[in-house]
Amino acid sequence: MRKIIVDTDPGHDDIMAILTALAHPNELELLSFCTVAGNQTLDKVTNNILKIEDYLDIDIPVFKGCDHPLVKQNQPQPAAHGESGMDGPLLPGPVRKAETISAVEYYKQVLSKEDKLTIVALAPLTNLGTLLKQAPEVREHIEEVVLMGGALQGGNINKYAEFNIWHDPEAAKILFDSGIKVTVAPLEVCYAGGILLKETERFDREGKVSKLVKDLFDFYCRYAIDRGWDSTAVFDLIPILYLLKEDLFTKKTGHIDVLLDGEDTQGQTLFSECEGAHTVLIDADREGCMKIFFDAIDGLDERFR
Ligand code: RIB
Ligand code: CA
Repeated sequence: MRKIIVDTDPGHDDIMAILTALAHPNELELLSFCTVAGNQTLDKVTNNILKIEDYLDIDIPVFKGCDHPLVKQNQPQPAAHGESGMDGPLLPGPVRKAETISAVEYYKQVLSKEDKLTIVALAPLTNLGTLLKQAPEVREHIEEVVLMGGALQGGNINKYAEFNIWHDPEAAKILFDSGIKVTVAPLEVCYAGGILLKETERFDREGKVSKLVKDLFDFYCRYAIDRGWDSTAVFDLIPILYLLKEDLFTKKTGHIDVLLDGEDTQGQTLFSECEGAHTVLIDADREGCMKIFFDAIDGLDERFR
């Protein structure tokens, strides 16, 4: 059993990752959500996770994090996630509200009480960068950060960088230099463990959660369809699948550095293989990944009738 905090900017793929975690309460104890500006503004991504909690009638504490990167300006991504950050599903609300303390304050408090927590970071790393600047001693209480981010060959937001790292490269550099054990799922392994567009048709069926996932994919897959692709990555799903079934992935250890400047290189991650604190996921068993994801949604359809 791992106690996890999910740092997130929902985000279609964030929600699919969170649903998959929710489907495995015996393996992952989901303590809280910490939101951060990324795919959309802080208010929009926070409203999105609260709307999902309303839809499922669940109560996991939500803490609002940083509303802009350490140095750069916000750069939301409506092309990938829409103006709301989660276009597609028509969800009312939210009725539920975020907690009153900030995500960074919450991290300081929870990490001083709980030992050996895993942080699953599915968004720009601004919350963690801010936390480590203000209270570097908390790193002793973090067992591991498992994050979606980075790229080994080519980027998705500029020639070499992946969005989560690019949006706040300074925060990412603070985390990678902190000495905390970090496991990274870069773009390449997310595509290797991706979903075929025809597989998304399985969600067009009865089921409260299947309907939500279908509506999410109906918007999210437009990006792949417009480019003539027959599959797409559900990026943020990979860190959760890694925690659930590590042997689905091949990995290497080494050091990761982050470039802070340059039109094509800002946010680029440079991986040098060596004995080190960082683990990089290199490849994935796609069928195995999809089986866990599909079974998770099936199970949630049963649970949330
Ligand atoms: O580059 C993919 C990442 O950017 C994912 O976390 C997705 O949600 C977006 O935030
Ligand atoms: Ca995300």
